[in-house]
Amino acid sequence: MKKIDLRSDTVSWPTPQMREAMATAEVGDDVYGDDPTVNKLQALAAEMTGKEAGLFVTSGTQGNQVALAAHCGRGEEAIVGFDSHIFNYEAGGAGVMSSITMLPLQTDSIGRLDPDQIKKFIRPDDPHRPVSRLICAENSSGGNYGAALPIDYFVELRKIADDNGLSVHLDGARVFNATTALGIDIKEIAQYVDSISICLSKGLCAPAGSVVVGSKEIIYKANRARKMLGGGMRQAGILAAAGILSLTDMTQRLDVDQKNAKRLAEGLAQLPYIDIDPEKCYTNMVFFGLTEDAPLNETEITHRLKNEFDILMGGTYGAGFRAVTHYWIDEEKVDRTLSALKTILN
Ligand SMILES: Cc1ncc(COP(=O)(O)O)c(C=O)c1O
Repeated sequence: MKKIDLRSDTVSWPTPQMREAMATAEVGDDVYGDDPTVNKLQALAAEMTGKEAGLFVTSGTQGNQVALAAHCGRGEEAIVGFDSHIFNYEAGGAGVMSSITMLPLQTDSIGRLDPDQIKKFIRPDDPHRPVSRLICAENSSGGNYGAALPIDYFVELRKIADDNGLSVHLDGARVFNATTALGIDIKEIAQYVDSISICLSKGLCAPAGSVVVGSKEIIYKANRARKMLGGGMRQAGILAAAGILSLTDMTQRLDVDQKNAKRLAEGLAQLPYIDIDPEKCYTNMVFFGLTEDAPLNETEITHRLKNEFDILMGGTYGAGFRAVTHYWIDEEKVDRTLSALKTILN
């Protein structure tokens, strides 16, 4: 990858080892459960998270949607963060496809729901109300600087869920970035949630796919929802072969992405007209803005980065820049980005 693409970790290409594994993968018809490589990936994900079963799905969105459909019936409700991916960026899928209502609640500065608010909004048994069924969390929290939510939050969610007969789903699109930042094993968080959707194609570099883990019963239901959503992929072992390397190898190197993100955040803090708090760089995401006296606006800077330096950076819907580090961004590329911005802003 010659250009510097910081728009997201989803832009990361598969590694040469992944391409090799994909080319030689044993395959079968996964809708019949016959693909040995998919089966291996699913078993590995289940084993790593301490869950009974796993299900390979096409994307992070599909992972969340099949989990929601597995947990909730028609007219049942999921409590979600107002800034969560599930609530904002999945095209209203839970309502459209599974007749699930979503109750969005405020989150704090790192993406946690307030436990008292959750308890307050769990519905009483009343025919006027939807039936509360699920609490969703997101870790790392994309809407909150990619912050890593600590274990005690999950302990608290588990208790509320158990006290009220609810389940907990974790949108763990970047859960390994979070566990790397927290210095813990994924099992430590997984034990407190009923299902996790883990993206293989973000910081973990696979070309496509996510894996959902949970109990055998939840995965059985999720498999039915996957078929309904058109996610039965036949010889999907070609993709799963890359996903296996995502889990075994790529999860082990996310500290590098985190160091590079920190290097970028600290370098940005030294530049004129950049508004950033480098302390708010928690995992592999860097968010920053411009000071009021900046000579150029966001769009002008983004265009100049692209046209003059071959550097791509994401916007945050008019609220600043987002730069995400990944396997194909090394220290040298971080430094080149800083020097390009310095040239543009001087
Ligand atoms: C937190 C979170 N969850 C889910 C998704 C959905 O993943 P996909 O784009 O693979 O559908 C994303 C995508 O960026 C995400 O950031």
